[in-house]
Amino acid sequence: MDRLAIDGGKPVRENKIYYGKQWIDEDDVAAVAAVLRSDYVTCGPKVDELEKALCEYTGAKYAVALNSGTSALHCAILAAGIGPGDEVITTPITFAASANCALYCGARPVFADIDKDTYNIDPESIRAHITERTKAVVAVDYTGQAVKIDEIRQICDEHGLVFIEDAAHSFATQYKGKKVGSLADMTCFSFHPVKTITAGEGGAVLTNDEELYKKLVLFHTHGITHDEKLMEDAPHEGPWYYEQIELGYNYRITDIQAGLLLSQLAKIDKFASRRKEIVRRYNEAFADVPEIIVQKEIPESDSCRHLYVIRLDLDKLSCSRRQFFDALNAENIVCQIHYVPAYWFPYYRHLGYEKGLCPVAEEVYAGIMSIPLYPKMTDDDVEDVIRAVKKVTDNYRKG
Ligand SMILES: Cc1ncc(COP(=O)(O)O)c(C=O)c1O
Repeated sequence: MDRLAIDGGKPVRENKIYYGKQWIDEDDVAAVAAVLRSDYVTCGPKVDELEKALCEYTGAKYAVALNSGTSALHCAILAAGIGPGDEVITTPITFAASANCALYCGARPVFADIDKDTYNIDPESIRAHITERTKAVVAVDYTGQAVKIDEIRQICDEHGLVFIEDAAHSFATQYKGKKVGSLADMTCFSFHPVKTITAGEGGAVLTNDEELYKKLVLFHTHGITHDEKLMEDAPHEGPWYYEQIELGYNYRITDIQAGLLLSQLAKIDKFASRRKEIVRRYNEAFADVPEIIVQKEIPESDSCRHLYVIRLDLDKLSCSRRQFFDALNAENIVCQIHYVPAYWFPYYRHLGYEKGLCPVAEEVYAGIMSIPLYPKMTDDDVEDVIRAVKKVTDNYRKG
C-alpha cells in the first residue's frame, strides 16, 4: 500500500507519473502495421530507409541501425579495433553498457571523473587517465547535454584515440549548431522507449568515416559479407555464396522496429521542443529553491534532454536522498536515480575496482534524482511535479 503524502493528507496527484515514457500515436501503430503487411519484416527496405533518414537528420555520412544502444557500443568498440590489453576511458555516471562495451572486447574500462556542475565527463580527468594502453574515449552525453566535444576531440587527436560519443540520451541535441551524430568518430544512439524517439528496442552507430562504416556493417551481421571485393576466395561458385571474414553478431534491427522509428523520427521536432519547454519550466521553478541544485549547461550544447536530474543539497535538508525519493513517491511522483557509479557494482568490484575512484561522481551521485520528463506530459503534470518537489523540500527544509 502507498504511504500517505508527506503532510499526512492527499498526494498532489491521484495517479502515478513516471520519470519517462514513450509517446506512441495511431500513425506509429499504422506504420508498424504497414510493415507487418509488407513482404519484409526484417532485412528489408525499411532499415535502409531508416539509415538514410538518420544520416539526413544528423548530417552524418553513414549510419548502421542496430537492435539496441548496447550493440551499437559493442560494434563501435569492435570497429575501433579494441581488444585485450587496451584501455577505454569513460564516465562512471552512466548506464552499465557504456563501460561494459570495453569488457565485451577484453579491454579495461577506465573511469574518469565528472564535472561537478554539468555531470559530464571532465576532459582534464580524461587527460589524467591516459596511458600507453588507452585506445578510445566513450564520452556520454549525460541526460542529453553534449559533452565538451572540442576538448575531447583535441585530446583524442593528440593521443591517437578513437572518440566514441555515447549519445543514448542526446538524440536531437546540437553542439555549436551541429546535430549530435556527426561530431565524434562514431556516435551511438539508443531507441529504448524512455529515449527521445523509440523503436521499442533499437540503436544506431553514425560515422563520417567509410572504413569504420564498413567494419560496423560487418560486425553487426555475423562478420559476413556479400561484397566480392572483400572476399578472400573470390571468384566464387555462384550467387548464393557469401563469406564470413570477421567474428560478428546478429545485432540487426527488424523492419518492424525501423518502421516505428521512422514514424517517430517524423515527429522529432515536436518531441524535442516539448522536452525543452518542460526543462525551461523546471529550471525556472527550481531557480529560487536553494535546496535543489539544477544541472548546469555549457553554452555550446543546445540540449534535447532525455532526463531532468535534480540534485539535493543534503546539507540544507533534514532528510536523506532516500527519504526525499520516498516522499515524492508518496505524492505519486515516481523518480529514478541515474546512475549508481558503474564501478560500484559487484561485477566491477570483483574485477578489482574500488569505491573512491571518482570522488566528484560519487558526491554528485549521493544527491541526484531524475524527476518525470517526457513530451506527452501535460502542463498540469509538470506543475504537479513542481508542487510535489517544493512540498517535500518545504517539509524537510532545515531550521
Ligand atoms: C548512456 C547509455 N548508454 C547506453 C545505453 C544502452 O542502450 P540500450 O538500452 O538501447 O541497449 C543506455 C540505455 O539506457 C544508456 O542510457
